Amino acid sequence: MKNCKLSPLVFCISFFCFLLVSTQARWHNHTKHKHSHKQSHISQPPSSAPEPASPPEEPPTNPGHSSDVFDVRSFGAVGDGQTDDTAAFKMAWDTACQSDESAARILVPQGFSFMIQSTIFTGPCLGGLVLQVDGTLVPPDGPESWPKNISRHQWLVFYRVNEMSLQGGGVIDGRGEKWWNLPCKPHRGINGTTLPGPCDSPIALRFFMSSNLTVQGLRIKNSPQFHFRFDNCKNVHIESISISAPAKSPNTDGIHIENTNDVQIYNSVISNGDDCISIGSGCYDVDIRNITCGPGHGISIGSLGNHNSRACVSNITVRDSIIKGTDNGVRIKTWQGGSGSVSAVTFSNIHMDNVRNPIMIDQYYCLTKGCTNQTSAVFVSDILYSNIKGTYDVRSAPMHFACSDALPCTNLTLSEVELLPAVGDTVSDPYCWNAYGELQTLTIPPVSCLLDGVPRSLLDTYVERC
Ligand SMILES: *[C@@H]1O[C@H](CO)[C@@H](O)[C@H](O)[C@H]1NC(C)=O
Ligand SMILES: *[C@@H]1O[C@H](CO)[C@@H](O)[C@H](O)[C@H]1NC(C)=O
Ligand SMILES: *[C@@H]1O[C@H](CO)[C@@H](O)[C@H](O)[C@H]1NC(C)=O
Ligand SMILES: *[C@@H]1O[C@H](CO)[C@@H](O)[C@H](O)[C@H]1NC(C)=O
Ligand SMILES: *[C@@H]1O[C@H](CO)[C@@H](O)[C@H](O)[C@H]1NC(C)=O
Ligand SMILES: *[C@@H]1O[C@H](CO)[C@@H](O)[C@H](O)[C@H]1NC(C)=O
Ligand SMILES: *[C@@H]1O[C@H](CO)[C@@H](O)[C@H](O)[C@H]1NC(C)=O
Ligand SMILES: *[C@@H]1O[C@H](CO)[C@@H](O)[C@H](O)[C@H]1NC(C)=O
Repeated sequence: MKNCKLSPLVFCISFFCFLLVSTQARWHNHTKHKHSHKQSHISQPPSSAPEPASPPEEPPTNPGHSSDVFDVRSFGAVGDGQTDDTAAFKMAWDTACQSDESAARILVPQGFSFMIQSTIFTGPCLGGLVLQVDGTLVPPDGPESWPKNISRHQWLVFYRVNEMSLQGGGVIDGRGEKWWNLPCKPHRGINGTTLPGPCDSPIALRFFMSSNLTVQGLRIKNSPQFHFRFDNCKNVHIESISISAPAKSPNTDGIHIENTNDVQIYNSVISNGDDCISIGSGCYDVDIRNITCGPGHGISIGSLGNHNSRACVSNITVRDSIIKGTDNGVRIKTWQGGSGSVSAVTFSNIHMDNVRNPIMIDQYYCLTKGCTNQTSAVFVSDILYSNIKGTYDVRSAPMHFACSDALPCTNLTLSEVELLPAVGDTVSDPYCWNAYGELQTLTIPPVSCLLDGVPRSLLDTYVERC
């Protein structure tokens, strides 16, 4: 994640709430309507919706069966890639959501491409829900086709949903290209500058205040902005997905989590133009395993502490992964002036292939020239780097620990770290500034800049851990 985008986020949330109100109202309306036709809702597409391209599916012979399938085409979705199928999807969602089956399944069938507008799918639902995407989902094609009165911050949103699985062998294609080419985007102007103009671009998939979520099997590509964003969620399991966007696509983070805990991200491949996975404030108990990242900006914790905010991140593990051809490997980045802490982070068994900055802590994170040093900082401690091997791009130092003057980093541990130049000779040695810690084994290249023990300044300062 580049810029923390705080004010756009605030705007985004208020706009989002506004949208929710209208969605909720419609939802209640449909709900009542649905209940009065409970036996026939599958076979009768609502009259207001476009006629389905093919005959509706047979209704389930046994409506009480525990695996009701709600095919979006039965609700009038056309799936020709052009027709606006939003209304049909909403109706399928509302119906499945009100189904008291244990796992109602909304089916997006294979062989069809469904165009849907920015939509908030709202829970809570009566039971668990499966959104089975075997076909393709696409949004309107670019900013010109995006309706003026609909949010440009997000495309598909799931709000207050508990127990949901988003799965299947299909594709979610964000059609981001026209958004990446907006004049305001980085490097669109002359000599790497940006030009003025509207810049908001939608996040492809957002989960907000939801829990017990699984995302499995899908291919998600070319989001206009982040591919996934989870805010205030709990118990999120992501497995066997692939995310792809071009290396030069701006701000296309793979998975961003914020105020979210109990997260597992396993067995997935992510290539894009920004962070592979980024972990924001308020995240804890996160386990990331067997991920292949690159190109992109690697795996990041942060940026944290922007605008003097308090940030807490703890118990994060990244292991058994490959990071290749990225700008960073594993990075922790915090702004001057923040508070809170990042602690208990383990990066282990990671293979680096031609990575700039494979190992990095940057407590002077700043996107403009105007950041000043401040006397508070997000405290960084208990960070373990174990079995990190491979090659780095010699344009940057292989290890870079730039810790705060006010609050040094403590208890950094390096064990079996071996990083060789991908091409050529070592240019920069490992860099440390106010970094306290120890080597458990000798490293390649040798690190001699870590400080021993506990910094004096920590004895005098009250350090708030969280
Ligand atoms: C609810 O449905 C009725 C008729 O079906 C319609 O007149 C009314 O506008 C709807 N209300 C909302 C909030 O959508
Ligand atoms: C957006 O505008 C269109 C056309 O003016 C209208 O039909 C639609 O209901 C509006 N949508 C929202 C969410 O306000
Ligand atoms: C772009 O950079 C070139 C070379 O540095 C310089 O000659 C030119 O004036 C710059 N153009 C603008 C518009 O800044
Ligand atoms: C999530 O699932 C767990 C275990 O099945 C359950 O205990 C918990 O209540 C669920 N969360 C919510 C918000 O329902
Ligand atoms: C790691 O993930 C890949 C998919 O990216 C999968 O093919 C492979 O089986 C996984 N390895 C393990 C040990 O689970
Ligand atoms: C850290 O997170 C893992 C799950 O990723 C959890 O099993 C473990 O109990 C957590 N450790 C602590 C000390 O909370
Ligand atoms: C902030 O502090 C760092 C480390 O002491 C120093 O290298 C840097 O020049 C300072 N930046 C400013 C803007 O004073
Ligand atoms: C140092 O950090 C490691 C984890 O990286 C942790 O196990 C250990 O307890 C920490 N040591 C101290 C003294 O806090």
